[in-house]
Amino acid sequence: MCGIFGCLVKDKDVAPLILAGLKRLEYRGYDSCGEATIHEGKLFVKKGVGEIDKVHAELGLDDLPGEIGIGHTRWATHGAPTRENAHPHTDCEGKIAVVHNGIIENFLELRKELEAKGHVFKSKTDTEVVPHLIEEFMKEGLGFQEAVIEAVRKLRGSFALAIIYAGFEGMACVKMESPLVLGVGRDGIYVASDIPAFLPYTNVVIQLKDGDVAFIRPDGFRIYNFIKGREVKRKPRTIDWSADMAEREGYPHFMLKEIHEQPRCLKNTLRLDRRYLTMMADLISSAEEAFMVACGTSYHACLASSYAMSRLAKKAVHPVIASEFVENYGSFVGPRTVLLAVSQSGETADTLEAVRHARERGATILGVTNVLGSKLTRMARVYVCQQSGPEIGVAATKTYTAQLSVLTQLAVIMAERRGKIGHVEAEDLWDWIHKLPDLAESVIEVTEKDIIRLAEEHVGVEKFAFVGSGINLATALEGRLKLLEIAYAPSIATSSLDGVTAGCLGKGSTAIFVCPSSSPDRKRLLDEACMARDHGLNVIALAEEGDEEVKEASDEQLVLPVPPELPEVLSPLPFILPLQMFAYYVSVKRGLNPDKPRNLAKSVTVK
Ligand code: G6P
Repeated sequence: MCGIFGCLVKDKDVAPLILAGLKRLEYRGYDSCGEATIHEGKLFVKKGVGEIDKVHAELGLDDLPGEIGIGHTRWATHGAPTRENAHPHTDCEGKIAVVHNGIIENFLELRKELEAKGHVFKSKTDTEVVPHLIEEFMKEGLGFQEAVIEAVRKLRGSFALAIIYAGFEGMACVKMESPLVLGVGRDGIYVASDIPAFLPYTNVVIQLKDGDVAFIRPDGFRIYNFIKGREVKRKPRTIDWSADMAEREGYPHFMLKEIHEQPRCLKNTLRLDRRYLTMMADLISSAEEAFMVACGTSYHACLASSYAMSRLAKKAVHPVIASEFVENYGSFVGPRTVLLAVSQSGETADTLEAVRHARERGATILGVTNVLGSKLTRMARVYVCQQSGPEIGVAATKTYTAQLSVLTQLAVIMAERRGKIGHVEAEDLWDWIHKLPDLAESVIEVTEKDIIRLAEEHVGVEKFAFVGSGINLATALEGRLKLLEIAYAPSIATSSLDGVTAGCLGKGSTAIFVCPSSSPDRKRLLDEACMARDHGLNVIALAEEGDEEVKEASDEQLVLPVPPELPEVLSPLPFILPLQMFAYYVSVKRGLNPDKPRNLAKSVTVK
């Protein structure tokens, strides 16, 4: 996730407006930034590493000349945060500048083709193929607008782009899967990843659709859709959000916004470069001893995937809470050990300490993180960036499901490469993995209303138990952690609720059972649910559509629109979604602020 801002304003230098717009988008990324403008047929570019204020202090981002310009604040996806990798990116002649948010999946192929034709690349980004592609089409004789359309037709993946060219009095904006909105003001036209960026200038908004290419000129704009192959009309709408609400896209809290972003983030995890996952899979497979280390939510992702790795790939990869690692396993770690560290921030002190220790003893370090350029990416031999974009809510949501998706893909690749699953089973698993983003979307959509009602009924409930067995012990632990973190509800998570515990919790408490029909322990879970009811607990069961057995064992059912055929190893992903929302709504109904839980830091970088 990065932030894009561009504008064309009559009789005004736009660089200061772009700078202000980027500041309002800084929450989308802040490892580097830059601007480009056009003035008297020339392209001007400034860019640098670090937060916007720092780069501005060094370079003066607001003094570029010109009434047309684009800007970018980056959250690295391909290529570390360096000046070369910062946007805007330009073509060989320095006449075309591009800013981009998203992932271009086929950039390596395109780059090779372009290099073979003599193009020289300056960065390691996927984005840089775009200005060179446009340049190439223009060399073949196309005008700028036609060249943009031909270029974007060749891209695969997700891309929001703003493009300027020294010989064109205007700007091209492209939307494909990544967000991009136009703002139509009295004196100018704006384009941004998010409405709040231009809200001080206009509240008339055009939401671009996938495939749209908007050509903005001083006298107006037209939109061409490259999927439909024709010009399209998009209706402007006037929005009445306050600037504060707009920053959260109209959601009352970042946490809820991020819960709803999960389908998009999951799609991003399907665009990872398989080569790195395959390298990781092979290194883990050949290790004498393999560990996963992490803290908090990331540890729960490790726990779930260690089940997936042992079940599918028949390889034990021990999940260890990072702070426990050195003391308990440190003495026998060596060159034949592989340590996979999972950390959203890539900066958690305990996780890095385990990594440091293992590295010193010659172990191979692998990493899964959301922050390219973090310490973990510098210490790992191979790492994968989960591409979730910055997470502002202190309680992790979208980064958890993205970790699950990445690690499950790793488990399937390990299983395939170790010959532990047949190709039919592998294909089936991949089909399901590709369905997960849509499945997540419908789970969120279908269950949210029921969860709001349930949360209302639970405002006064004091104690909770979360029960999930096997791989869904991780779901129970993570559901409990969310409720504890943001609603401050004392609660336990367990794989088996016994009579003693149920009796202790007592009447008036609530037990939430995670009951996918694929669970091998289902019968036991249903028996325990009945027992819990006998002890006076209110029992909520999370189950799939059409699950009649669950109805008899519980007081309330949260029915997920998930087919019962969903393989169990994938079930933690849809089943955590209602629990995230439950924690969120209980917190809100209790009058708390889920974005600012007390006593909790997003990442703990000191020991
Ligand atoms: C802290 C936070 C947790 C987070 C954990 C791991 O404990 O309070 O919410 O899950 O760190 O963070 P990481 O960035 O390493 O995934």
